[in-house]
Amino acid sequence: MALRIIRIMGDEILTKKCRKVTELKPRYRELIDDMLETMYHAQGVGLAAPQVGVLKQIVVIDVSEEANQPIILINPEIVASSGEQTGQEGCLSVPGKAGIVTRANYVKVKACDENMEEITIEGEGLLARALQHEIDHLSGELYVSRVEGELMNVTQEEEG
Ligand code: NI
Repeated sequence: MALRIIRIMGDEILTKKCRKVTELKPRYRELIDDMLETMYHAQGVGLAAPQVGVLKQIVVIDVSEEANQPIILINPEIVASSGEQTGQEGCLSVPGKAGIVTRANYVKVKACDENMEEITIEGEGLLARALQHEIDHLSGELYVSRVEGELMNVTQEEEG
C-alpha cells in the first residue's frame, strides 16, 4: 500500500467523467488499498478515484467513529433517494474550506464490491451525504457547485 497524491480543485481531472470498471484488474485492487490508506491518512470520510488521478468509477467511504468500517463501491449508482438534509460539507480536494449543501437524507445505491459482486447499500444522514458527495466526483462534480452561500474557511480536522 502507498499514499497517493490528492488532486486539488483546479486540477482538470476533477471535472472529468469516470469510466466504469468492467474487470477488477490487480492494479485496481492496489488502487483501492491505496485510496483507503490515503483517505485514513488525510482523516477524510470518503475518497473517489479521480481525486487520486484515476478516471474510474471507484469510491471508498468510512463514516464510522473508529474509522474501521470501510465501504468500497465500484460503479456505484443511486437508485432511490428521499428526504432532505442541509449541513456542512468539505472535500479533501478543497482543503481548508467547507460549505453548506442540501442533499437527500436517504439514498439507496447499487454497486459492485471489491470482488465485483453486486451489492445494495442504504444510508441516511452522514452516510447518505458521503455517498452522494463521492458519486458526484465520478461525474466530475465537486460539492462547491452545490454550496448555498459562500465557502467558509475551516481547520483540517473538519474536512470530509
Ligand atoms: Ni470530495
